[in-house]
Amino acid sequence: MSDAQKRELWDRWKPGESINEISRALGRPRGSIFTILTSNGGYVPPVQQRQVGQLTLHERESTSRGLDAFVVVTPEYNHGFPAVLKNRIDWHYAEWRTKPVGFVSYSGVCGGLRAAEQLRQVSRELHAVAIRDVVSLHNASQQFDEAGALTDPAGPSAAAESLLDQLSGVGVSGGR
Ligand SMILES: Cc1cc2nc3c(=O)[nH]c(=O)nc-3n(C[C@H](O)[C@H](O)[C@H](O)COP(=O)(O)O)c2cc1C
Repeated sequence: MSDAQKRELWDRWKPGESINEISRALGRPRGSIFTILTSNGGYVPPVQQRQVGQLTLHERESTSRGLDAFVVVTPEYNHGFPAVLKNRIDWHYAEWRTKPVGFVSYSGVCGGLRAAEQLRQVSRELHAVAIRDVVSLHNASQQFDEAGALTDPAGPSAAAESLLDQLSGVGVSGGR
């Protein structure tokens, strides 16, 4: 069934049309209508909306494959990295293999350092090479002006220079 037909199915189901009525309207067997309805427990599924600039899995794969190194930016939530970031990482393996990875972390008082430390463990399993230095922003919400620029960039800039030096200094082999 096409996506448009599935949308129409849910549009008809929501206000109370029966399976028979939907089947007749769409010209599809009742069994296929039933299967789709039960796939989400009869609840209208939420409309999936991707944020502007968010890459698809395929785009992430092909982009990552062409990269020589990664910089992961992470906040810290309850002493750890966000689950959604881990989920994104879990979709990939070959793309990370043997490549250097650096971390930029931010949060409240701790600058996201615990999230970055946890990501080191994850990167080890991916056979990626975690860079020692981290760019860490503590009290991150107070470090940026309205235009999104750092109010006092000296420290983070120096840390970023060091991170980039280390990233480019690590040999890149294979992985693509
Ligand atoms: C549920 C929750 C848990 C948090 N846990 C921590 C924490 O463990 N350590 C810390 O330094 N900051 C913590 N913070 C502060 C966040 O790291 C900070 O608000 C950060 O800006 C969140 O990133 P985001 O705005 O990109 O989501 C927490 C914030 C929330 C809402």
